[in-house]
Amino acid sequence: PTRTVRSALTSIPESITCTEDYELIAREFIEPSIYAHIAGGSGRETTLKSNLEAYQNVRLMNRVLVDFTTATTRTRILNQEFRHPLLLGPVAFQKLVHPDGELASARAADALESGMISSTLSSYSLEEIATETSGHKWFQLYFQPGKADTLDLVRRAERSGYDTLVVTLDVPVRSGNRRAQAAGFVMPAHVQAVNLKHHSIPPQVSLNPDQSVIFQGIMSEAPTWSDLQWLIEETTLPVVVKGILNPMDACQAIACGASGVIVSNHGGRALDGVPSTLESLPAIREALGDGVAVLLDGGIRSGSDVFKAIALGADAVLIGRLPIYALAVAGAIGVAHLLRLFRDELELCMALTGCTTLEEINESCLIEGSAHV
Ligand code: FNR
Repeated sequence: PTRTVRSALTSIPESITCTEDYELIAREFIEPSIYAHIAGGSGRETTLKSNLEAYQNVRLMNRVLVDFTTATTRTRILNQEFRHPLLLGPVAFQKLVHPDGELASARAADALESGMISSTLSSYSLEEIATETSGHKWFQLYFQPGKADTLDLVRRAERSGYDTLVVTLDVPVRSGNRRAQAAGFVMPAHVQAVNLKHHSIPPQVSLNPDQSVIFQGIMSEAPTWSDLQWLIEETTLPVVVKGILNPMDACQAIACGASGVIVSNHGGRALDGVPSTLESLPAIREALGDGVAVLLDGGIRSGSDVFKAIALGADAVLIGRLPIYALAVAGAIGVAHLLRLFRDELELCMALTGCTTLEEINESCLIEGSAHV
C-alpha cells in the first residue's frame, strides 16, 4: 500500500526536542522503499541492533561542584581544529531524501563548525559539495576497479580542498539489505553516482558461469594492503581507514602509514554478526596507544552516546543515518538543528559528569564494569 510522504519542511517542527526525535518522524518524510534502504542493515540485522544496544549498557557517573569557567568541547584531530567532536559521516546518494542532498548537509556542517565527509557515491559532485563549506571537509574514497580511476578521484579531492581521505575498507563485496530488497528499492533515475565515470557503480557480479562469483569474480579484483600502501604514498593528504574492528587490522593500517582509523561496521551494513563498534573500541585504542586518531561510528543517536564513545577511547564520532533523517525532515536547517542538539546534549552530559574538556572524559566517568557488555 502506498503511503503519503510529506515534503520536507522549511522550519524546525516544535515537536523535535532531542536528536533522536528526527529518527522518529523521518519515516513520514521518506518514501517507504527508500526508508528501508537507509534504515536497514545486512543479514539478520544483529550487528545493526547491537550498535544501538551497546550504548544502553553503559552507565554514567556524575560529579558535582566542578569549576566550568574555561570549559570547551574544542579538539584537534589530525592537526585540524574542531569546535566539537562530531562529523557528518559519509552516506551515499543524499538526493534520495532531499533535492538539495549533500549540498544541504555541507551547508549545515559549515554553519555549525562541524566536519563533513563526502562519499565517493555522492549525488552532487565532490567539487560542488566542496564549494558549500569553508570548514573541514574530508573525502571518503572507495577504491575503483582501476588504479587510474582511483587516482583521478584522489586528485580531484586534493584540488577541491579536501583535508583528509577516508578510505572505506569493509565492503569489498556488497552484503545486501533484505529490508530494502523486500520493499522493492531501486535507485531512482535522477539519483546518480556523478563522481564516477558513466555515473554508475561498476557491476560487482561476474557473469562468467565458470567462475566463482565471489572469489574470482569480485574478491580477486578487491584491494589489498599493497593498494592501501600505494594510495598513502600517492597522496599528500592524511589517510584514515574506515571499517576497522580488529586491532590487528588497526595496527597494520597504521604501520602502512595511515594517520588514523575509524572503528566502524558500516552501520550494521557490512558483515552481520560482528560486534558493536562501542564494544570493539577499547581494544583498538589500547592497541594503537594515545597518539593515533581513533574515530568511531555506528549507533550514535544522542549527545550522551558521543560522550560514552569518547570515554571508551574515541577522539571523535561520525553520525550516519541521523543527519539523513534530519535532511529528509527539514533540509539544511534540519541537519544544522540536529548538530546543534548534539552539541547541547554533549555539553549537558559534560556539565553533569564534571568534564570541562574532552580529554577529561574517560572510563572513570562510567560505572566500572558497565562498559563490558
Ligand atoms: C552508509 N555508509 C557509508 N559509508 C561509506 O564509507 N561510504 C558510503 O557511501 C556510505 N553510504 C551509506 C549509505 C547509507 C544509506 C547508510 C545508512 C550508511 C556507512 C556510514 O558512513 C556509517 O558508517 C554508518 O551509517 C554509521 O552508523 P549510524 O550512525 O547510521 O548508526
